[in-house]
Amino acid sequence: MANKDREQWGSRIGFILAAAGSAIGLGNIWRFPTVVGQSGGGAFLLVYLIITFLVGIPLMIAELTIGRRGQTNIVGSFKKVAGDNWGIIGALGVAAGFIILSFYSVIAGWGVAYIFKFLTGELANLGAEEVGNVFNELTSNPIVPIFWHGIFMSMTIGIVILGIDKGIEKASKLLMPILLVLLVLLAIRSVTLDGAMEGVSWYLRPNFAAIDRHIILSALGQAFFSFSLGMGAILTYGSYLPKKENIPGSAVYIAIFDIFIAVLAGFIIIPAVFAFGLEPGSGPPLIFITLPAVFGAMPAGTFFGLLFFVLLTIAAVTSAISLLEVVVAYFIDELKWDRKKASLLAGLAIFILGIPSSLSMGVMSDNLIFGMPFLDFMDYFASNVLLTLGGLFTAIVIGWVWKTSNAISEIEKSGDKFLLATPWAFLIKWIMPVVLLVIIVNGLFF
Ligand code: PHE
Repeated sequence: MANKDREQWGSRIGFILAAAGSAIGLGNIWRFPTVVGQSGGGAFLLVYLIITFLVGIPLMIAELTIGRRGQTNIVGSFKKVAGDNWGIIGALGVAAGFIILSFYSVIAGWGVAYIFKFLTGELANLGAEEVGNVFNELTSNPIVPIFWHGIFMSMTIGIVILGIDKGIEKASKLLMPILLVLLVLLAIRSVTLDGAMEGVSWYLRPNFAAIDRHIILSALGQAFFSFSLGMGAILTYGSYLPKKENIPGSAVYIAIFDIFIAVLAGFIIIPAVFAFGLEPGSGPPLIFITLPAVFGAMPAGTFFGLLFFVLLTIAAVTSAISLLEVVVAYFIDELKWDRKKASLLAGLAIFILGIPSSLSMGVMSDNLIFGMPFLDFMDYFASNVLLTLGGLFTAIVIGWVWKTSNAISEIEKSGDKFLLATPWAFLIKWIMPVVLLVIIVNGLFF
């Protein structure tokens, strides 16, 4: 169903920054330090790095390749390379897009609220405990965080309506570099706080005894979430790629950029947690409490705090648009809706689905699902179940249905030889299906 006038990326660097923009977001700055904190520090980091190289990068290549071959949304692309029955995997991805964006936007909304709290001085020069009070007051309110969630969704919908090169590509090119510089500054401030070194060693020292199957599943889920894999975001961006693009090369850039930002965010949050005597395992609120306290301990902290939350919001928007784009591309290509109608209706549905996540921080905080607040449950289920299954099926489809030889010839259409083609094919066909299945089943059921 590829049509001739389908949009394409304007330039290689534009594509890489947009894909990195999809990958880099709350997953790096909010979720990664949270999961590190909950999973015992150094034990997690090591497992995570191994998984990103052995699973993350090969699957990123796989998704870009399916997308470029399919030249259409996730459902259509799977049908094209593997036959109509496999469209169902795409449907799983569209569902994951709905669920992830619903709670993602709630958390991003807190970040938008913080911009205003820095502007009004409410978050100026506070200690960790006082910031904690501001945070709890915000998130437990039944209305205010839903308002900010609505603002964030509106921005996302607005950019997606503008389309691929005018909206997504322009925003990413400009803003990602500024974010990087600010993160480096913050990491320097954080590791030089009094008492921060204990955190640094907790973060970096591998504790092999602590590695268990739950940590391995969390690391896998985090890798999928952070790389935007398993639900078609990277696949959909791949579908806008021209044939001359070198896919493995691009994937390596995107992945390394993403890992670097996550590890850097760890250097900001974890040392600060120790310096302020907070609990590293305290979950999703962590960064919203530690970070403003780090700013409070800095000269010109209010200015940097403001700048940081503006950039965090932008990083979150560039990810959110890729989540919404999966759903929208599906409605456009398969149901023939126009871009505006698809963006508005899907965006509205996602906004509504986010409401219970927001309420689960306040009035609904006693209603636990599998022992977790609704927001944490949505995140756990989408990342550790839906995304990892999406990755498993992607490997099976390439390895056993479409065949790795066909994938490799699609990759080599750029004119470059894919040097690691043999190990890549071996990983996708033999190792990935088994390893992913074992990790998912063990992590979930035992
Ligand atoms: N990778 C994004 C982040 O780290 C989130 C995301 C997940 C985006 C899945 C698209 C698909 O914030």
